[in-house]
Amino acid sequence: MKAIQIAIDGPASSGKSTVAKIIAHNLGYTYLDTGAMYRSATYLALKHQLDGSRVNDILDLLATHPITFNKGTEGQQTVLVGGVDVTDAIRQPDVTNNVSWVSALPEVREELVAQQQRIASQGGIIMDGRDIGTVVLPDAELKIFLIASVEERAERRFKENQKKGILTDFETLKEEISARDYKDSHRAVSPLKAAEDAIVFDTTGVSIDGVVEFIQEKAKKIIDKG
Ligand code: DC
Repeated sequence: MKAIQIAIDGPASSGKSTVAKIIAHNLGYTYLDTGAMYRSATYLALKHQLDGSRVNDILDLLATHPITFNKGTEGQQTVLVGGVDVTDAIRQPDVTNNVSWVSALPEVREELVAQQQRIASQGGIIMDGRDIGTVVLPDAELKIFLIASVEERAERRFKENQKKGILTDFETLKEEISARDYKDSHRAVSPLKAAEDAIVFDTTGVSIDGVVEFIQEKAKKIIDKG
């Protein structure tokens, strides 16, 4: 059976990673969370008190502390940086609130995009992020761009955080999501935007199963034609 590349892009908390993980499992594909890679780079920069003027030092840290993914005890994906589990650390507010400047550094993007492309070359892949359909996998057979209202996305993140025991104020979350949307869409390098050949899908009010079904049906059609 033909193995395809599926690119899922969209703003923060639009449901990309939740649906991508399920589809990867159903199709037996590799799932790559590229946001976790930018978060890991941010974690390293903050840990070593580096700012944007020290991009070479950030690159050195990325070289000496490779980002890898593993399966946790309950089958969930864990993120390691230099062999250390940072799965929870990279979701903390300090990383979330600094990831925009780190991911706007062209040198960091160049390095992480190269890593993402190497992983994608190994077979069937579903990757989620901001620039997958436009930059990382421009030839992906299926490109989806998920959107949802800020209100709904803040609600989703609020519940997610609650489950992880991270306390957040709903209004603050909404402001942070809007601010990140703005920064992600207005940065000079690889801004968040739908590829011309992407299917834009508004998930406001749509269940996870509904989004999964929509994408999977499109994927299956392409795979079957294969
Ligand atoms: O998907 P996420 O919220 O975990 O992503 C964290 C940040 O990383 C997001 O605000 C922008 C950046 N990012 C990016 O610039 N390019 C990607 N392909 C994925 C994420």
